[in-house]
Amino acid sequence: MKKKLFAAALATIMTVSLVTGCGKSTDTSSQTSEDTNQTASADKLVVGTNAEFPPFEYLGDDGEPDGFDIALIKAIGEKIGMEVEIQNMEFASLVTSIGSKIDVAIAGMTVTDERKETVDFSDPYYEAVQCIIVPEGTVFASADDLKGLKIGVQLGTTGEFIAEDIEGAEVSTYNKAVDAVNDLNNGRVDCVIIDANPASVFEAQFPDKVDVLQGTAYGFEVENYAIALPKGDTELANKINAALKELKEDGTYNKLVAQYIEN
Ligand code: ARG
Repeated sequence: MKKKLFAAALATIMTVSLVTGCGKSTDTSSQTSEDTNQTASADKLVVGTNAEFPPFEYLGDDGEPDGFDIALIKAIGEKIGMEVEIQNMEFASLVTSIGSKIDVAIAGMTVTDERKETVDFSDPYYEAVQCIIVPEGTVFASADDLKGLKIGVQLGTTGEFIAEDIEGAEVSTYNKAVDAVNDLNNGRVDCVIIDANPASVFEAQFPDKVDVLQGTAYGFEVENYAIALPKGDTELANKINAALKELKEDGTYNKLVAQYIEN
């Protein structure tokens, strides 16, 4: 019951936010000059995501963001006594929105040095690698086979960064990963570079059309997902890391992996 009410409230908040460009709908009087964070009220955590990345985040049948990351951050919210409000936005806007529109971001986001210039990261919570979605039956013998190809990627992702570095590649960027996969199926791109788990989900969605090649075979490095945090907010970072640790120890983390990722 509470969930339904919350969903309705969330829809309203998200509408208001779109208009005002501000994630915070309630009182700011509890903020002090020491607060580095623009949006946090004592008991609410405004969390940005991009619900285009199954199984980590996607829109559920009710139109609300769901997935492993969403369940994880809600469990963290419960541990640290903060109500979690999810804001769905473009992936490429997440990092720069921290501290203004949102407090933190959870979005299957890989820790990178470049992002670390703008935000801090929690302890890593999941390991991933980029994979290549190809038309069914296609095989690349080595990374050289990627040279000069038309490659689809989601805008602002590590998949895009890898693709941009491939010699002669013609990179097409999409706001939604599924649109890249649709263009693969339409023959507009030769392959799509995306994280392993969403790649498997898309493979399952189009079983007769696509295959997934494991990126490690082409020299792609292992990546770590973490929650992006406001720079310098060690208090929030400590709380979130402690909660993450507890969730791993008490079995909640494994339960969520089983429920969302390994099902
Ligand atoms: N792991 C990749 C990155 O950090 C892709 C993440 C995309 N996430 C999303 N929710 N769309 O760049």
